[in-house]
Amino acid sequence: MFSSLLPAETASASETLDLGRRLASVLEAGDVVALVGDLGAGKTHLAKGIAAALEVDPDTVTSPTFTIVQEHAEGDLLHLDLYRLEGDEVGRLGLDEMLDGDAIAVVEWPERGAEWLPPRTIWLRLTHLGGDRRRIEVEQP
Ligand SMILES: Nc1ncnc2c1ncn2[C@@H]1O[C@H](COP(=O)(O)OP(=O)(O)O)[C@@H](O)[C@H]1O
Ligand SMILES: [Mg+2]
Repeated sequence: MFSSLLPAETASASETLDLGRRLASVLEAGDVVALVGDLGAGKTHLAKGIAAALEVDPDTVTSPTFTIVQEHAEGDLLHLDLYRLEGDEVGRLGLDEMLDGDAIAVVEWPERGAEWLPPRTIWLRLTHLGGDRRRIEVEQP
């Protein structure tokens, strides 16, 4: 579905944000986007871009590490960060129900909850290429 946009390389945070904006234009209600990549790879910046396309102020989109999930656009966008979840916590979170609706969901550190993400999840990988360069590509789970 992203074949015209990915793989991509960006050379700045704002280019990654812009890529997120363009990716959002092919997303539909209920889509779940899993963002795999190390700390600083640009996952949150890609999420900011997706949010911007949904008319959410990107400044309000921050890594939801401590809250695990943040709602934006009156619930039309969910931004999750599973980094801090341990053991069976992720099971108790009710991810499958949370991701069952019409919201677009963007999930950072999705590996922590892979078994709870729906089969339709779109997996993307972000790779630090050194300096300000990042590669963004579709990853088959
Ligand atoms: N091409 C780029 N894309 C995204 N972020 C970049 C890029 N170049 C530099 N950066 C910087 O790298 C960091 C990425 O942070 P963030 O988006 O929070 O990553 P993550 O959520 O993967 O930890 C930010 O400080 C950003 O300014
Ligand atoms: Mg982040």
